[in-house]
Amino acid sequence: MSKQRVLSGVQPTGNLHLGNYLGAIRNWVEIQDQYDNFFCVVDLHAITVPHDPKTLADDTYKIAALYLACGIDLQYSTIFVQSHVTAHSELTWLLNCITPLNWLERMIQFKEKAIKQGENVSVGLLDYPVLMAADILLYDADKVPVGEDQKQHLELTRDIAARVNDKFGKKKEPVLKIPDPLIRTEGARVMSLTDGTKKMSKSDPSEMSRISLLDSPDEIKKKIKRCKTDPIKGLVFDDPQRPECHNLLSLYQILAGKTKQEVATECQDMGWGQFKPLLTEVTIEALKPIQDKYKEIMDNKDYLNSVLQEGKAKAEEVANTTLSRVKDALGYLPSL
Ligand code: TYM
Repeated sequence: MSKQRVLSGVQPTGNLHLGNYLGAIRNWVEIQDQYDNFFCVVDLHAITVPHDPKTLADDTYKIAALYLACGIDLQYSTIFVQSHVTAHSELTWLLNCITPLNWLERMIQFKEKAIKQGENVSVGLLDYPVLMAADILLYDADKVPVGEDQKQHLELTRDIAARVNDKFGKKKEPVLKIPDPLIRTEGARVMSLTDGTKKMSKSDPSEMSRISLLDSPDEIKKKIKRCKTDPIKGLVFDDPQRPECHNLLSLYQILAGKTKQEVATECQDMGWGQFKPLLTEVTIEALKPIQDKYKEIMDNKDYLNSVLQEGKAKAEEVANTTLSRVKDALGYLPSL
């Protein structure tokens, strides 16, 4: 039996942070040998908010290199750049004409990002989840491993696919496969270091709010030293009055590879002065191999280019087949 398919992606906007790693990429790496995987760098999504053309290409390389540095293995997985496969834009248009506007207006991320941007909101920002649906549906993905914040976009993807099937599918032959989200409980929502009630995010203006995968040991030390805590001694999980405490213990648990119970016992009598150096040490240790491998890959652009070129060819083959199937179902005259 052939393997089920996985698709996921990250935007090339700035460096990846611990939230992206623990919520998404670490999980891709862990499950990749069980699936046929496609991981894209979603550069078309990156221009839905104002962007700098001078950094887009470099950021795209960076994310692809980080995928490899985090352990994505080309034996199981294909890495490609979204804009290199034009079927993504084309399917987005077709899905746009089938998606009700009010489905998009309900999206929480759109509302949050629109508020942050004030008057400069583009049509692309509203349309972002339809492009994401196209990314997923083009590959007939069975599973989409993401962080908690993408759950609503996944539900929308399922709704769009069901609508296409309903309107244009034949009873026994759906046009599109309906994917399932894969959201792990641990690390699905890593919170900001400066406010334990907000998620860690690339768009937070404060660098102190997040740990980037490429931060130096000194930067990591400084950020953890200054991160928000509380004056209570004894560290516990799950106290709604202590969101920072829960977040930092959770980070420690995942990065140290311990169980929740082990960490709860270890830290129950600790103060922050004792805990912070521990968290600093495991964070530096967890990121070191990723950083070393990243440097190696970025020093070899020819290799990186060849990975992306091969990825494009493999992705195109699958994506173009699905696109033809959708166009056929919608009644288009085949290209002459
Ligand atoms: P992006 O680049 O914002 O986030 C990439 C991945 O990181 C996860 N994530 C987090 N997980 C835990 N805690 C956090 N604080 C945190 N912040 C981010 C996100 O859930 C995501 O899995 N729309 C997607 C990109 C995308 C995509 C796709 C994903 C485009 N097309 C198709 C899957 C399938 C996004 O927000 O990327």
